[in-house]
Amino acid sequence: MPILEGEGVTKHFGGLAAVSSVDFKVDEGEVVGLIGPNGAGKTTLFNLISGALAPQEGTIRLNGQDITGSSPHKICRMGLARTFQSVKVFPNIPVPANVMLGSLFGTPNRVSSADAAGETAELLEFVGLTAVGATPAKDLTLANQKRVEVARALATKPELLLLDELMAGLNHTEIAEALELVARIRERGISILMIEHIMKAIMSACDRIMVLHHGEKIAEGTPQEIAASKKVIEVYLGE
Ligand SMILES: Nc1ncnc2c1ncn2[C@@H]1O[C@H](COP(=O)(O)OP(=O)(O)O)[C@@H](O)[C@H]1O
Ligand SMILES: [Mg+2]
Repeated sequence: MPILEGEGVTKHFGGLAAVSSVDFKVDEGEVVGLIGPNGAGKTTLFNLISGALAPQEGTIRLNGQDITGSSPHKICRMGLARTFQSVKVFPNIPVPANVMLGSLFGTPNRVSSADAAGETAELLEFVGLTAVGATPAKDLTLANQKRVEVARALATKPELLLLDELMAGLNHTEIAEALELVARIRERGISILMIEHIMKAIMSACDRIMVLHHGEKIAEGTPQEIAASKKVIEVYLGE
């Protein structure tokens, strides 16, 4: 059964069709890639799924429940978490507190602060941030700030995680580490929808890839099918 399903999802900004009647789905346990040139509508689609924006047309379902136009905190508590293309950590508060906010406010059940602290410690270790201690988030490298965001998202106990360009701006070593982190998140049984520009990364991480161009879905298939698609190659060469 699909964990996420969208039908005819549409969002216009004035005269611009940012997302145009797009159908999509993510099956349970799947890792799906979302690619396309800059301005294709990828982040807008994430905003529509996560409730930051409401679509003008179409339906979005999470675990079979209609979440179209629901608010972000409700959708989060229903099991969907995301990270942001431009990192959104709380800059002046310590790394552990950044993560703990996910446990305290992102889950449907009341969590005691002792339990939240325990989960936070476990997640900091999971993403490889134990050594940074109580450093304010703004003092971390970009790669580590992205790990804080992933840990905070995981603290909300998602069934589906949306990653918006997790690897953008990272060096080779950091990209390899991010890929390994994605693989370990998947091993936890969490489904993933990820936007990424780094083809090698998306090809190795994903079961299936969707391609957006000018707000429309122009291709969908296995990494091999996408890599061989004339339409996709044309779009990227024309960029
Ligand atoms: N809040 C907004 N208001 C107006 N236009 C927007 C807004 N957000 C995105 N856009 C426009 O929608 C299009 C798709 O943007 P975006 O979803 O960020 O693309 P991508 O993530 O694929 O690079 C772009 O032309 C962008 O300028
Ligand atoms: Mg984007």
